[in-house]
Amino acid sequence: MINRYLRLGVNIDHVATIRNARGGPHPDPVRAAKVAAKAGADGITAHLREDRRHISDDDIARLTGEIDLPLNLEMAATDEMLEIALRAAPHAACIVPEKRLEVTTEGGLDADGGKAHLGRFVDRLRNAGIRVSLFIDPEPRQLQAAKVLGAPVVELHTGAYAEANHADPGGADEACELERITGAAALAKSLGLECHAGHGLSFDTVGPVAAIGSIVELNIGHFLVGEAIFGGLESSIKRMRALMDKARAEAGGQKSA
Ligand code: PXP
Repeated sequence: MINRYLRLGVNIDHVATIRNARGGPHPDPVRAAKVAAKAGADGITAHLREDRRHISDDDIARLTGEIDLPLNLEMAATDEMLEIALRAAPHAACIVPEKRLEVTTEGGLDADGGKAHLGRFVDRLRNAGIRVSLFIDPEPRQLQAAKVLGAPVVELHTGAYAEANHADPGGADEACELERITGAAALAKSLGLECHAGHGLSFDTVGPVAAIGSIVELNIGHFLVGEAIFGGLESSIKRMRALMDKARAEAGGQKSA
């Protein structure tokens, strides 16, 4: 059976990127989170990076205090971030890889190679009642590792699929990347892992991912904030929500991955 409802987590990092370009308070990511709630988001996602290039500690405090939607805190597996997460007690924490010089989270976490390091983070967060997900590439060994680590949720990195679409829309690479995501979502289901997906998704690329029935949540940010320049944030989120719902409805009960 297909999961009929697909949650949308709106990532507000790049509202903070624009704010930080001038150092003042505008535009406020917490205000963006409130708009997202009004537009139909099911959750807010924010990545507190080690270098604080966009979201700040104060943003996290305000998001947990002022927003009614569940907060998904993206974090690197470091002691500093663990302490912050345990203090902030968000609804969820998504462990992501972080490299100082990258412009964005370029690939998934090496859950397989990093088992020894990651176990403590998964355990501490879980014991605090925080839902833990691991942001991984859609590869079987990474899903198996997430299972061994005891993470209840995986988020599949859709960046390679999105990039393949930009390079050659409808081409063989895009189909191949989508197939990897579909296969990984099916494996997640068979392993009893809740499956999310995200990174680089746009109006053009969201449909086929939204049609994969065992994916229950998408996290989308950069495109929505970019599109807001042209039509407003509420309108960009509403359109994304509508495209997700349409793809889910059209997939009917058939494409359950
Ligand atoms: N999911 C995770 C784990 C991420 O790290 C990001 C980027 O911060 C996203 C989803 C959203 O990606 P994008 O901003 O490209 O939509």
